[in-house]
Amino acid sequence: MTLKVQDLDIIYPVDGGDLVACQNISLSVQPGEFVTVIGPSGCGKSTLLHAMGGMLRPTRGTVEADGTVITGPDPRKAAFVFQDYSLLPWKTVIQNVEIGLIFAGSTKKDARRIAVEKLERVGLAGYRDMYPRQLSGGMQQRVAVARALALEPEYLLMDEPFGALDEQTRRALGVDLGERLSKSGRGVVLITHSLEEAVYWADRVIVLSSRPGRIVKEIQVHGDRPRPLEFMTTEGFTEVRAELFSLIESGSSQEIA
Ligand SMILES: Nc1ncnc2c1ncn2[C@@H]1O[C@H](COP(=O)(O)OP(=O)(O)OP(=O)(O)O)[C@@H](O)[C@H]1O
Ligand SMILES: [Mg+2]
Repeated sequence: MTLKVQDLDIIYPVDGGDLVACQNISLSVQPGEFVTVIGPSGCGKSTLLHAMGGMLRPTRGTVEADGTVITGPDPRKAAFVFQDYSLLPWKTVIQNVEIGLIFAGSTKKDARRIAVEKLERVGLAGYRDMYPRQLSGGMQQRVAVARALALEPEYLLMDEPFGALDEQTRRALGVDLGERLSKSGRGVVLITHSLEEAVYWADRVIVLSSRPGRIVKEIQVHGDRPRPLEFMTTEGFTEVRAELFSLIESGSSQEIA
């Protein structure tokens, strides 16, 4: 499934007028492609992601999945992973993974089987009966990913999922999940504040300007995924990282493209 955003504007009505969050954004994500989005705080990244998942109606333009306009959220098409994990504290790890399936009409037995499989996929098979508070932040984040994967979405939309974690955990989790996601062949859109993450994960990095968020640049990152951590020491990596750094430093508030 190809996800296609065309001429997208998103305007929020606010006191005293309109707030333009995203302006004239066009992009597409191919099946199996990993796209990262980077840009200054408040530039419209989360807004864009919500629109891509059908959670927000575009003011202008369209979001299409394989040529069909998306008019609302469909967790089997696009699943979200948010920064705060949004796990239910009173449910166990496995119940948290099952819940979307049960809402979607799976039998208890099927939900259990799929949840076990996804927990294995994120390396948490042994933690299924624990509660979220008994897990580290990185582990909770992996539960959130397992939950998102449980519905076999065609796309995974992740909004700074590693924001709350320390650098080392982010890296370890990043390598780990990157590998698993690459094998699953899913399209992924990841918003991040980290230049390293933006380059390391991506087939393509999209740089947004400060609000109203417009696409300043799309940069292709070469190199097969999953990538070893040493990828961060290659010329390909450092060149793209430097380019992103200068785009963002030179104030993506101005028109750069
Ligand atoms: N529901 C809303 N109503 C009105 N304005 C909103 C709403 N949601 C977001 N905004 C505004 O839209 C702009 C873009 O917000 P958004 O959350 O998309 O930015 P962001 O790039 O994700 O920022 P951050 O990096 O800090 O997460 C901001 O100015 C924000 O105040
Ligand atoms: Mg955001």
